[in-house]
Amino acid sequence: MNYRHSYHAGNFADVVKHALQLICLDYLQQKEKPFFVLDTHAGIGMYDLQGEQAQKTGEWEQGIGRLLQAENRPACLETYCSLVRSLNPGDNLRWYPGSPWLSQQFLRDHDQLGLCELHPDDAEELADNFAGDKRVKVYREENGYIALKALLPPPQKRGLVLIDPPFETTTEFNDIVTGLKHALKRWNTGSYVIWYPIKDPMVTGGFQQMIRELDPPKAYAVDLLIRHAEDATKLNGCGMLFINPPFGLLEPLEELMPFLTELLAQGEGASWQGRWVVAES
Ligand SMILES: C[S@@+](CC[C@H](N)C(=O)[O-])C[C@H]1O[C@@H](n2cnc3c(N)ncnc32)[C@H](O)[C@@H]1O
Repeated sequence: MNYRHSYHAGNFADVVKHALQLICLDYLQQKEKPFFVLDTHAGIGMYDLQGEQAQKTGEWEQGIGRLLQAENRPACLETYCSLVRSLNPGDNLRWYPGSPWLSQQFLRDHDQLGLCELHPDDAEELADNFAGDKRVKVYREENGYIALKALLPPPQKRGLVLIDPPFETTTEFNDIVTGLKHALKRWNTGSYVIWYPIKDPMVTGGFQQMIRELDPPKAYAVDLLIRHAEDATKLNGCGMLFINPPFGLLEPLEELMPFLTELLAQGEGASWQGRWVVAES
């Protein structure tokens, strides 16, 4: 396991992922009933953009750096931006939150958050970052795919599962599909959100086909390319696949995605696309 998210925190892919994560969390919070969030690949929860690893790549400058400086942001990005700003009083941008911290901000007393992290060092840091919050349980060195069997369905019967693997191995897309197969057998009314990289769009199409074959109740995919996907060795974009997307998701996308596409472009050919992979029958 070589992947460390601290090299990439706050990059364009995090901006897409976290902006969409917050729309889902906002929807969950609109109802009084308790909810559960499972983050199968949690990372450490908080990143130092001035630390050695983030400084080495500088990726955040083309992600959250651009977003915070942008004018005329769509209203649905304001919570995200103000949460990041709340960690960084003044003009300096040093701290960038991971998906666990963002989920934590939406929890009420009766909601729960489960966090799995397999890397021993990251798991320890994650546990330290969330120590003392009884609503949050850190599953140290726990395989997120196993948690899809072990922790579902949640007693609340309402919630969100975020799957955000590092894609270090060639089996990751298959692992996701196998994990989802088990999860959907246990809980097919839950909302699942899966982040994936786009290098070669053919691979993305293959993944979406595998999802179709799982036959979930509904699935919607949003893909964003930051440039033409001509060189498949590069991260040319990313996508989010939503199984049982929250009702409120599609409407803000019409304003959000064109804005993010222009903001995060890194060359000719930036574009976005949203489509039903499995439409409601
Ligand atoms: C892309 S990062 C997660 C970033 C985080 N979701 C965020 O948005 O802030 C992926 C993380 O998954 C961890 N990881 C890799 N394989 C795992 C597995 N099978 N189960 C749980 N965690 C895993 C890696 O150590 C890494 O910290």
